[in-house]
Parts: sequence; C-alpha cells; structure tokens
Amino acid sequence: MLKEFILKIKNEKMAQIKAGKVGNDLLFTLLSEGDDVYGVLGDELGERTLIEDVITIYAAAVSTTQITVNNICKYIHMDRYLPVKEKLLAEIDSLLAFEAWDAEGNAINRNSFLEAASYENIQENFEYTMMCFRESMRIEPPVGFSTSHTVTKDVVLAKGTPKELKINAGEMLHIFTKKLHHDVNQWGENHNEFIPERFDSNSQHFKAPSGKPRHPYSYAPFLGGHRICLGKTFAENVAKKLIAMTLKFYALELADPKLKLETFEYELF
Ligand code: HEM
Repeated sequence: MLKEFILKIKNEKMAQIKAGKVGNDLLFTLLSEGDDVYGVLGDELGERTLIEDVITIYAAAVSTTQITVNNICKYIHMDRYLPVKEKLLAEIDSLLAFEAWDAEGNAINRNSFLEAASYENIQENFEYTMMCFRESMRIEPPVGFSTSHTVTKDVVLAKGTPKELKINAGEMLHIFTKKLHHDVNQWGENHNEFIPERFDSNSQHFKAPSGKPRHPYSYAPFLGGHRICLGKTFAENVAKKLIAMTLKFYALELADPKLKLETFEYELF
C-alpha cells in the first residue's frame, strides 16, 4: 500500500521533471540527483531501491524525531514535572520574546518569528530544550535496539568479572539501547523519572550515583562509531525548533487527564 503510494507520487514527479519543473523535496532530489544511482540498477531494481530509500528515510528521520518530541509534550504535562515545564517555557519565552497573535487571533510579528527560527539561533541557543530532548530519548529511546552489527574480531567483555562474555569474530549482535539508558548503576534508582538536568554539567544529577562521570556509552540514542546516525545534528535542530515553536504557539493538554498523575514505569521487555 505504502509502496503503491510512493510509486504514484514518483510517477507524478517524474512527469513534472520531464516537463522541466524543479522541486526541492526529498523525492525530487532523489529522482533528479540520484538518477545515476537508480538508473544503473535498471528499472525494477532501481524502483525497488528508491522505494526502500524513501521508507528508510521516513522511518529513520521522521518517526524518531516525532516520537521524542511527542514524549516531551507528554512528560511536561504530567503534574510532577510542572517545574520542568515552567523552566522550559521560561527559556522559550526569553528566546522567542515576541507576541505571536493579535487580539483577533491573527499571526503577527512574522519577521521576529523568522529571525528566531533561523538556523543560527536554533543551533546556538535552547540549551534547556536540548536537555529535555536528550532526557526524552534516554527514557524512551525511539530506536530501542540497534540493527544487527557483525563483530569483526574476537573480543572479551567484562574480562575477569562474573559477567565475562566472549564474542567471536563473525557473530552478530544487537545493542539494546533501552537497557543502557535504564542501567541503575549509571542513572540511579530514579532512572524512570524525567530529569533533564541529568544533562546539565552544573547539576547534582549530572554524574552516576557513585559520583563518577557516567560511562560514555551509558547513553547512545544515536548509537556511535562508524554507523552513528547520519541525521543526528539535523534531528537535534529540528527537534529544538519543533519543541520551541509548538510550545510558543500552542497551549497543549493531555487528552486523557488520568495521564497527568500517572507514575511512569518503563517496560524493558
Ligand atoms: C531523534 C531522532 C533520531 C534518532 C534517535 C536516530 C537514531 C538512529 C540510530 C540508533 C541509528 C543506528 C541504527 C543501527 O545501526 O542499528 C540511526 C541510523 C541512521 N539514521 Fe538516525 N536517528 C534519528 C534521526 C535521523 C534523521 C533526522 C535522519 C535523516 C535526516 C536519520 C538518518 C539515519 C540514517 C541514514 C541512518 C543509517 C546510518 C548508517 O547505517 O550508516 N536519522 N539513527
């Protein structure tokens, strides 16, 4: 169904490209600039590859960012995270310090809005918004476990401890991000709580319960190494903008008021 939908749009875009139209959306770019790649694969394989690419980019880019931002909106509307909401709104109000609507409900101050929404402003500011984004990905990572990765040489993990684990070259493994993000030794007994200050180096919540810095891989929503998410910086910018603009322009409330009081228990399996 989704494939047919993509194919239908693809055919429409191809007709537009042939008629000399230039667009700047994803499919236009893939079809015009990716023509060499899809062309050499031949009609059938080229078409299949294009469809898979669109689905991958949609799943990798859109749903991940959307889930994280949705979850932030949920947390900050729960009663016990009211202080987080106030702090977040204070940052947004100070950085987007203009009235968005007039008395009749018309959007106003468009230039201030465009300036505030500029790449530079978003990239350089919104520190607390970013902490909320990071903490949301910690509690409910949108990619809960990795695709399979092949180990290229023999390794022994936790050598000499009761947890020692030998992994042989050629074996495949998944990295279980959810587990990393809820490790009590790294994140404390309150690992189910939404505490954005965990990412603030001046906060008491910044370190592991032992008082030591957290392990660099205790947090890996984008994974790491050679196959780290290609869209990490892009996602961070989009999310900051989305959170700031949504909370600036709209007053949200939870559809189910019961959620306001809910205690969050994260299910690992
Ligand atoms: C909150 C947002 C996002 C999260 C949490 C996220 C997370 C991840 C993770 C964990 C991986 C590694 C998957 C694996 O190897 O098993 C990955 C890969 C990837 N991500 Fe993202 N991603 C996000 C947004 C994006 C965006 C916005 C884009 C594109 C614009 C993107 C493009 C990709 C691509 C192309 C890969 C494959 C990289 C490779 O295998 O070399 N992601 N992402």
